[in-house]
Amino acid sequence: MTTLTTPASTASQTAPQPLFERAIDVLACPYCGGDLRSDGQKVHCQGCAKTFNIDSGIPQLFAPHDPEQQKGDVTDIVKAFYEENPFPNYDDIDSEQTLMEKATRGVFARLLGEQIPQGALVLEVGCGTGQLTNFLGMHYNRRVFGSDMCLHSLRLANGFRERCRIKNAGFTQMNLFRPAFKPGVFDLVISNGVLHHTADPLGAFQSISRLVKPNGVIIVGLYNKIGRLTTDFKRFLFRITADKLSFLDAHMRNKNYNQDRKRAWFFDQYKHPHESKHTYSEVLNWFEANGFDYLSSIPKIDPGPFTDEEKLFMPHDRGTSFTRWVTEMEMLMTGGKDGALFIMIGRKRKS
Ligand SMILES: C[S@@+](CC[C@H](N)C(=O)[O-])C[C@H]1O[C@@H](n2cnc3c(N)ncnc32)[C@H](O)[C@@H]1O
Repeated sequence: MTTLTTPASTASQTAPQPLFERAIDVLACPYCGGDLRSDGQKVHCQGCAKTFNIDSGIPQLFAPHDPEQQKGDVTDIVKAFYEENPFPNYDDIDSEQTLMEKATRGVFARLLGEQIPQGALVLEVGCGTGQLTNFLGMHYNRRVFGSDMCLHSLRLANGFRERCRIKNAGFTQMNLFRPAFKPGVFDLVISNGVLHHTADPLGAFQSISRLVKPNGVIIVGLYNKIGRLTTDFKRFLFRITADKLSFLDAHMRNKNYNQDRKRAWFFDQYKHPHESKHTYSEVLNWFEANGFDYLSSIPKIDPGPFTDEEKLFMPHDRGTSFTRWVTEMEMLMTGGKDGALFIMIGRKRKS
């Protein structure tokens, strides 16, 4: 696998991340919620006096979901999986230019990059190897934190950030159920492809939604219950054929992917130890119950094509339960492309 970390002996490996120096006030102790201060070597809680290590420049602010948890807890199992299989793979991305090219090939990252308001404070929860965080952090007038529980992924993320000197991105280890940030501070919280890998997706949504400030925005990407039936079927086929039919997945046939990228995709889609699936209507209920108004989605649930000009942060029609079901059936009919992930965007009400 291509790694982007610099050798362990270089000074930059342990250098504090500039964004943390500048924005330490938005951080909070994941145990007591107290203010955090850093001396460059460790992070100290001013409330409960706990001390947190900094590994390769990354504050280790991970707190277990439930201190009484049994071994075999979903968080532990998923964490071990991603320590072994960081996602997404960095393959041939070795510069700001190549990351920018990859990110802007996908409509979601490109529209986000264009439409996030000037000066926004952004948090990506479950950033994996941090490609989106690093891409968004290249903008001069924006501060973007990436958080994940997997240290291996974060080292790749922060290694890339250091190499490319991306000053407006910063990474921390964190369990989304025990956030290391103060409530109500972010203009935008993004969590794409993450909540469905937890034992309690609604609880996870509630946890991260508390970090959004009034009038701020939340973006969640989840596997779709209907659209992902194709993936479920392929997983079954691969299992009974000892993965001999893996070429049935279009990503595995893609000539532009190297072996590492194919492996990262295959494991994430077909060998994952835990996933759940969700519907548009279910997430609308989450929004409603937690004080968010629906803005938009990918794929769209309102009539009309998704264009390059789509306004992600403008209110769109939420459709009916029937039109939402039709959208999900379309996802299925088009082969559950890209794992049948659907993205929902909502704005937090002011009161
Ligand atoms: C499929 S990857 C998605 C990575 C990235 N968001 C993307 O779209 O490419 C899921 C990520 O969620 C992280 N994750 C899962 N449960 C988590 C938790 N409880 N706290 C923090 N991160 C978590 C995993 O470590 C993993 O990196």
